[in-house]
Amino acid sequence: MRRTPSGTFTVLTALCAVLFSLLGSLLGPAGTAQAATATVTNATQFTDPAGNPVHAHGGGVVKAGSYYYWFGENRNADNTFRYVSAYRSTDLRTWEFRNHVLTQSTDPELQSANIERPKVMYNAATGQFVMWMHKENATDYGEARAAVAVSSTVDGDYTWLGSFRPLGHMSRDITTFVDTDGAGYMISAANENADLHVYRLTADYTGIASQVQKLWPGQWREAPALFERDGVYFLLTSGATGWSPNQQKYGTATSVTGTWSGLKDIGDGTAYGSQTAYVLPVQGAAGTSYLCLGDRWGNSMGGNVNDSQYVWLPLRFPTRTTMAMDYFPQITVDTAAGTVKGLGSWETLTAAHSGKCADVADRSTADGGAAIQWSCGGNSVNQ
Ligand code: DGJ
Repeated sequence: MRRTPSGTFTVLTALCAVLFSLLGSLLGPAGTAQAATATVTNATQFTDPAGNPVHAHGGGVVKAGSYYYWFGENRNADNTFRYVSAYRSTDLRTWEFRNHVLTQSTDPELQSANIERPKVMYNAATGQFVMWMHKENATDYGEARAAVAVSSTVDGDYTWLGSFRPLGHMSRDITTFVDTDGAGYMISAANENADLHVYRLTADYTGIASQVQKLWPGQWREAPALFERDGVYFLLTSGATGWSPNQQKYGTATSVTGTWSGLKDIGDGTAYGSQTAYVLPVQGAAGTSYLCLGDRWGNSMGGNVNDSQYVWLPLRFPTRTTMAMDYFPQITVDTAAGTVKGLGSWETLTAAHSGKCADVADRSTADGGAAIQWSCGGNSVNQ
């Protein structure tokens, strides 16, 4: 059949329509690319879509519906408590501000205070979100208390239930964990930070039922982060050196209450200039990856908590009971697949003019793709 000029035009128009519709499916409503993977750049202060800094330091993440909700410290200029702020994301890259879920006016106890390492757990039996955190006065670390607040919605205004010393013990750096059987646990640094205590929580997660472990007594572990992988429980911790980063170590067990192994080193001598806040399991169609969320404290760089940067690194598991953490200047996250990968082979490339580690940003293969460099190893990754 001979194609007429107008027939050719019709075929071209149809082809264009198909191409535009294909393009449209790759672009979001505002014409922005909706990549399957999101790239997170480490050693930066993240910003929200409005361009404001994301202040969720020392934080933790809870999944509710299709969103990851990130809660963390948001401080006054003098480094005292201002808010616990909540953000949400589907891709772990774009964090939308939702609410200051605790403020100085939530309770008289919070008017002049210090709140660190807030962690939110969801209680499936009560339908409540329960926040545990470390509470101090605004001037020193002498109170050494845990505190609890609750909300019926994940990012609503939380109701303050009070602060206390668990079973009379000092309680500073803190984390929480919901086990596969629904049991809730709180882990905190006790005895002037020399020991780590593991407490089983009451059924509604708002109180202490019993102490189930006194871990690594006299070994001065802080910044606990607990997760379970393939029937093995991993407890990642830092040493106790104030705001300065140090060697992270971890132990393993076959149950939270069971016998825990001794501590093994992970990462380099300063956790690449960071301190763990939380380990987030990213579960998707291809499996589960474990993302270590760390803070590079502003206080260790001449600033305060709100000057801190984030260092988020994938954990890898050479065996079922061992784990490792390498540095990457950038990571990619695919929450649908459940994959988290490091970008860049930081041990292999060196920029000749600076002697620094170097790579192509975003692993771009384009001609003219931008290069990035950073101080190799520990404490000073700047991009
Ligand atoms: C280390 C802790 O992990 C932080 O949360 C904070 O309490 C600093 N110490 C204070 O020096």
